[in-house]
Order: sequence, then C-alpha cells, then structure tokens
Amino acid sequence: MKKYNVAVVGVGAVGVEMLRVLRQRNFPVNELRVFARSGRDIDVDGNKYSVGPINPDGFKGIDIALFAGTEGEKGAAVTYALEAVKRGAVVIDNGADFRMDPKVPLVVPEVNAADLKKHKGIIANPNCSTIQMVVALNPIYKKAGIKRVIVTTLQAASGAGRGAVEQLKEETSLVAREGFNNLHVKSGNKSMPQQLAYNVFPHIGSFAEGSYTDEEWKLVKETLKIMHAPKMKISATTVRVPVRTGHSESVYIETGKHISVDKVRDILSNAPGVVLMDEPKNNIYPMPYDCEGRDEIFIGRIRSDAFVKNGLWLWVVADNLRKGAATNAVQIAECLIKKA
Ligand SMILES: NC(=O)c1ccc[n+]([C@@H]2O[C@H](COP(=O)([O-])OP(=O)(O)OC[C@H]3O[C@@H](n4cnc5c(N)ncnc54)[C@H](OP(=O)(O)O)[C@@H]3O)[C@@H](O)[C@H]2O)c1
Repeated sequence: MKKYNVAVVGVGAVGVEMLRVLRQRNFPVNELRVFARSGRDIDVDGNKYSVGPINPDGFKGIDIALFAGTEGEKGAAVTYALEAVKRGAVVIDNGADFRMDPKVPLVVPEVNAADLKKHKGIIANPNCSTIQMVVALNPIYKKAGIKRVIVTTLQAASGAGRGAVEQLKEETSLVAREGFNNLHVKSGNKSMPQQLAYNVFPHIGSFAEGSYTDEEWKLVKETLKIMHAPKMKISATTVRVPVRTGHSESVYIETGKHISVDKVRDILSNAPGVVLMDEPKNNIYPMPYDCEGRDEIFIGRIRSDAFVKNGLWLWVVADNLRKGAATNAVQIAECLIKKA
C-alpha cells in the first residue's frame, strides 16, 4: 500500500486529536511532521512526537497537510496554507478562513464527498456544530426535502480550544474551594467571554449581522454550501455549556413532504456515520459524556411537532474534536487517497 508524507499543524485541542485519529485509523503515513508556533516534544497516549516551529520549507515533500492552527489574518492557515500548496501538498484546513471561498470545497464525506474532485490544493473542514448537523439532516433532506431548520447548540468548552478547557477546570476548582457558597469566581484564564463553570452563555464567536454571532452564521452558510440547498431557511442560537467535550444540538426541521417518525428512525439507523440512540422509555438518548472519543454522530429524541404538520425534532450529539474536527479531516484525506 502506498504511504504518504503527512504534516499536522497545531497541537492544541484539535491537533492532538488529529495525531490520535491518524494512528487509530491506521492512516498510511510514511513520514509525519508536526508543527506549531514553537518547537517542543509532546506525548500523546504514550507516543512521542517532536514538534517543529512552523516554516514554509517544512512542507517540502509533504503530500497532505492537516491544519489545526488558529484562524485569521496572522493565523496558521492564512500564513502557511498556500506555502504548503506551492510546495505540492494538499491542505485540509480546520479553520474558517477558506470555508466560504467558492473555489474551496467544504466537505463532510458522508454528505458531499463528490465535491472533493473540484479542489485546487485547499479543502476546508466545516465548523464542528455544522458537521454533526448536516450528517443528521442530509438523509432526511434526500427523502423528504427540508424547508426550515431551527437549531440551538449546546457546545462544550473544548470547542473553544485547550485554553477554554483550562478556564473551565480552573473555575470549577475555584468554586469548589469556596465550598460552593460563592458561584461567581474569577479565573486568570480569559479564553471565553464569561465564566462557564455553573453557567451557560448564548455567545460563541463575535456578534455579527442581525445580532447573530458569527458561529450562528457559520451554521447557516456552511450547511447551505455543503448540502447544495440554497433555499433551506436556517436560524441558529449557539450556547456554551460546562461540558468538557461533546456538542449537543436541539434541531427542529420542517420537511417538504410528510415523513413519519418511524420512517425517519429507519432512514437514520441506516445512514452513514450515524448511531441511533432513541429509546426514551428506557432513558436512552445521546449525551456528550457517552460520545467523547467516538467518531459517529448520535441521534435521539426523534418526535413530530405537536402543532406543525411536517415539523420534526431531533437531538444530535457528537464529539466536537473527533467528528467535529480531526476525524472529519482524516476522513477527507482517506477519500483523497482512495481516489489517487
Ligand atoms: N476545538 C474544536 O472543537 C474545533 C472544531 C472544529 C474546528 N476547529 C478549528 O481548529 C483550529 C484549531 O483549534 P484548537 O481548538 O485546536 O485550538 P487551540 O487548542 O487553541 O490550539 C491551537 C494550536 O495551533 C498552533 N498555532 C497557532 N497559531 C499558529 C501559527 N501561526 N502557526 C502554526 N501553529 C499555530 C498553536 O501553537 P502553540 O502550541 O505553539 O501555541 C496550537 O498548537 C481552529 O481554527 C479552530 O477554529 C476547532
């Protein structure tokens, strides 16, 4: 079997998971280079990795570069993705910098793997909350159409990176140290805009057009692009909750054609990448702490709306660092090498 030279950029929450997923899925790696802002040695599950300081020539001879660095003007992807492409690599980027570029495919393999053939060197991995939603919506969309989606997300701390996980840990131990008498504490870590321990807040990303956050707009725009469904009307509210890893979503949809709940269960139980956990009588439904470390998305609480004829509710949970980031990126790489 042919083996590939692979680079991983970033060793934060997603980058470390990327190293884990490459190993667990036996991706055929010849040489692995790991880059971050600064060089050091790291240990992931007992495996040692030497991390080098990123530089353009580090991508010479690399076939596939998995980017999990920071976003924005001075971020890893904007600074180095094109340098990597110039040196012959295909870049799969986890950040938002290229997602809405019409020349860049935005791919969730279970939904639109065919878009990969249009790539010109860069492929974008969608936002974590978008990935799990489209894996759930697509099989229903193909059967009955979807006109309207209203989603509320409950997103874990690790979705905001390793700094946010540290902030949650620190706040939780400060509250415990206060004997739970004072729930308002101040951590020195300001990775999130509010205290997360013993709290939830409806603010992920920055406030943007129409008082929605940019995270909420990502759910709208990325879903339309991935599903090739420009007429679908989507509204989102994104909420940070004190969970370490695993995003949950309460999703309301209105289908074009009527579809029974039993049929939806049947479709989803046969859908790629989906695990159905829907036995409310036995208290079985997905929860983030059961899904941590898993690659699938989990769906439960499927029910019809009591008042709207074609209205349906779903509860969708996935590990934001795995299917929401690292696993999806590695699955894209697997699709690429299958076609090579
Ligand atoms: N967390 C999630 O659930 C999630 C899901 C989907 C997508 N994403 C996206 O994935 C990316 C990584 O997120 P994360 O949560 O892993 O962040 P993180 O925990 O903050 O880690 C960021 C990593 O990127 C490295 N880095 C930052 N700027 C860099 C640069 N200019 N050049 C090279 N390396 C650089 C950092 O290097 P040092 O270690 O040297 O500081 C660090 O290792 C972001 O674009 C994020 O939006 C995250």
